[in-house]
Amino acid sequence: MDSDAGQSYWDRHATASNLPGEETLTAEGWKEAIAFYMTPEQSAAYDAMGPLPTLRVIEIGCGVGVNAINLAGRGATVAAVDVSHRRLRTLRRLAVETGVGERVWAVCARAEQLPFRREVFDRAYSKSSLIHTDLPTAAMECRRVLKPGGRGVFCEPTAWNPPARVYRRWLGPKEWREITRYFTRAEEKTLAAAFGNLAVSSFYLFAFAAFFWQFGRRNLKRFRRWLAWLHGLDRVLFAVCPLLRRWAWFRVYVVDKKA
Ligand SMILES: C[S@@+](CC[C@H](N)C(=O)[O-])C[C@H]1O[C@@H](n2cnc3c(N)ncnc32)[C@H](O)[C@@H]1O
Repeated sequence: MDSDAGQSYWDRHATASNLPGEETLTAEGWKEAIAFYMTPEQSAAYDAMGPLPTLRVIEIGCGVGVNAINLAGRGATVAAVDVSHRRLRTLRRLAVETGVGERVWAVCARAEQLPFRREVFDRAYSKSSLIHTDLPTAAMECRRVLKPGGRGVFCEPTAWNPPARVYRRWLGPKEWREITRYFTRAEEKTLAAAFGNLAVSSFYLFAFAAFFWQFGRRNLKRFRRWLAWLHGLDRVLFAVCPLLRRWAWFRVYVVDKKA
């Protein structure tokens, strides 16, 4: 994967949606951004992380910080790691403007080379960022900085969801193809090998369509309503026919660093 091409893309598009052509995020816009961000796989990830007060959390590929600020708002101290200086500048400003500046450390570094000594974090978290890394190295680095008994929770998009494949092939930014490796069984095996355990939950088959109201015509009310309906449908389908999970757009991966 071309990491320089990646860095340049992320610096040029320092947006909350990670897509080109959007306003820079402000404290006013943060509330709406987090309302769009808190989707079912997010809630599952937060449940897996458990109560956050007094915990030290490392977020890998934090972007402009929508999530890091939310984690700090829930009581965690967050090391927000990203390769993009421009994204981290936005994160720093937002963290101060939203009152959590003291609990969010913005760290410009690569996931493959974390500037922390071993065993300092209670939780590690990522959303749509391990897909842009050299995963075997990033997974071992993540394991190294987690305390024994620590937990990693990763929300990553898979390579399999049919509508997502169509979007990536015809509508998504062409640069993504050079800088992204969506999760397949191989990446799941890499995570399982690094930690010796891996729990997986699947999200979004038909509910992919609800994201039109976030990334197409932005309408929070419609987004939440469609998401509730279609996510409910997906859960029934995944329960009735587990094979369908194979086509999930997102998966939440939970790993524990054994004491
Ligand atoms: C798709 S964005 C996701 C941002 C944020 N997690 C979110 O959910 O909006 C991927 C992020 O990963 C960062 N990134 C890409 N490669 C990285 C690497 N090797 N190490 C650390 N961060 C990286 C990018 O700068 C970008 O902010």
